Amino acid sequence: MKAVEIRNLNYSYSDGTKALNNLSLSIPRYRRVALLGANGSGKTTLLQHLNGLLLPQDGSVTVMGYYPVDKKHVLKIRQLAGMLFDTPEDQLFSTTVAEDVAFGPRNLELDEQTVNSRVRRAMELAGITDLADKPPYNLSLGQKKRVAIAGVLAMEPELLIFDEPFSGLDPRFAAQLMDLLEKLFHQKCTIIITTHDVDMAYAWADHVIILSKGQVLAEGTAELLQDKDLMTEASLNVPMLATAFSGTDMAPRTPAEANQLLRFAQRKTKVL
Ligand SMILES: Nc1ncnc2c1ncn2[C@@H]1O[C@H](COP(=O)(O)OP(=O)(O)OP(=O)(O)O)[C@@H](O)[C@H]1O
Ligand SMILES: [Mg+2]
Repeated sequence: MKAVEIRNLNYSYSDGTKALNNLSLSIPRYRRVALLGANGSGKTTLLQHLNGLLLPQDGSVTVMGYYPVDKKHVLKIRQLAGMLFDTPEDQLFSTTVAEDVAFGPRNLELDEQTVNSRVRRAMELAGITDLADKPPYNLSLGQKKRVAIAGVLAMEPELLIFDEPFSGLDPRFAAQLMDLLEKLFHQKCTIIITTHDVDMAYAWADHVIILSKGQVLAEGTAELLQDKDLMTEASLNVPMLATAFSGTDMAPRTPAEANQLLRFAQRKTKVL
């Protein structure tokens, strides 16, 4: 079963801008997926089709194998596919943080005890327990993002769709969010993020999709990002580690891997 199946999707905004142009792609389940592309390439428009914020004008979108994204299935889709917006303030509207996080699970008509335990757990995971009684609109951007993330986690979705989750986060919470994504991935979630950080995508993703002008320019493993011509065509940079190790027989994807390989090479040289 595929997490996402998109066939010949077209989408034009009301002013005539064609944001998605006959786009097709297929994402297997249980993958860490990075969606990359220049500003305006269609990433947000595409993600908004995955949880029914936008409905296909032409073509089809299917989520988790058998749920077509259409008016009839939109509630089920939103339960399966949790979406973090690129502008978190657009998804916060309750008077307190705890109320905001509870909004989604309450709509699922769960009993109060289940709602409360989901809210507590989601707030702990997002590191916002101390903000529970604050009004969301007074928070900093990074804090709002954490509240929005907690709101998504409280729904316990199988498909996590995060639009630029790392922008505006301090390095410590960015690292915590990375650990959290890893934990959710091991709990059998499929995670799709957009990012402009090619180094992060290179280190993290096991499936990479590169968009250009509303179309899929390339799709595959993170090694795709080593291709300078492809990256130039997509107006992206080659990841730093790929540039640093190009022309060698080493291809570390994280600083820790690079360090290990270099130490190993150094030891080998000493022995020789
Ligand atoms: N509400 C809208 N009305 C008209 N055009 C829009 C609207 N939202 C997006 N667009 C246009 O659709 C195209 C795709 O935009 P989209 O936001 O999907 O790109 P993106 O890849 O997410 O960009 P970014 O990296 O800047 O977030 C762009 O040309 C954009 O100007
Ligand atoms: Mg966007």
